[in-house]
Amino acid sequence: MDHKNIVVIGGSKGIGLAIVEQLVSQNINVTVISRNINEMNTHPLIHYIQKDITRDDLAPGELPEIIDGLVYCPGSIVLKPFKSLSEEQFGEDFAINCLGAVKSIKAALNALKKSESNPGIVLFSTVAVTQGMAFHASIAAAKGAVEGLTKSLAAEFAPTIRVNCIAPSLTNTSLAAKILSSPEKVQAAEQRHPLKTIGNANDLASMAVFLLSDESKWISGQIMHVDGGMSTLRV
Ligand SMILES: NC(=O)c1ccc[n+]([C@@H]2O[C@H](COP(=O)([O-])OP(=O)(O)OC[C@H]3O[C@@H](n4cnc5c(N)ncnc54)[C@H](OP(=O)(O)O)[C@@H]3O)[C@@H](O)[C@H]2O)c1
Repeated sequence: MDHKNIVVIGGSKGIGLAIVEQLVSQNINVTVISRNINEMNTHPLIHYIQKDITRDDLAPGELPEIIDGLVYCPGSIVLKPFKSLSEEQFGEDFAINCLGAVKSIKAALNALKKSESNPGIVLFSTVAVTQGMAFHASIAAAKGAVEGLTKSLAAEFAPTIRVNCIAPSLTNTSLAAKILSSPEKVQAAEQRHPLKTIGNANDLASMAVFLLSDESKWISGQIMHVDGGMSTLRV
């Protein structure tokens, strides 16, 4: 993937940061958009743009002229009984998980069309779309929309731009910190998974980097279940 330009929305921490680290280790240029800038800021292959993707617009010319891949990582985990989930919360979750991705894809689309390197878009869903889970109504609704967006855009942009989505189960990042706030909670979460571990950022980043690479040039419109077996196995 030498000399490719990849844009990672939400590449300052968590899974997005692991994606950025894997990409630069392959000598790929990365544009990172996030609200905070981290120490990778000084890396010669990384260009940071500080923005809140739900509020700020991307001005013309801010992104590379040719983009070979786009990953959208911002997301939320707000778990509450349905009666405590306000309509505003549903709106906020939809905004960060789905509308932010829509905005990013719109901003990058012309530059993605110019790529001659099997360009790809990678979005993030959650295991809670395939596997119904109590208290996940808002996030499952928002990510269900992301899965629909993935398939619809994959059809619309074929054969030029591939669009795929990764649906993780619980992964050890700051987003999941509340759910993993004690050794007991971590152990219980591990035991719930058929493969008896929770995910780490690199488990998901490896799939994202694969979906951006030429190795996946015949894959589009797919939801990749990287989830320790959670969505499909009963052991
Ligand atoms: N971790 C899990 O257990 C889990 C499970 C299922 C699905 N997922 C999904 O996987 C994806 C990645 O999750 P993660 O755990 O890596 O999340 P994370 O650790 O919270 O990282 C999210 C990234 O997005 C950026 N971001 C958040 N809001 C933003 C905004 N408004 N504007 C610009 N950048 C923003 C954050 O940077 P700043 O804070 O600097 O802006 C950060 O770089 C998400 O879509 C999540 O829903 C995660």
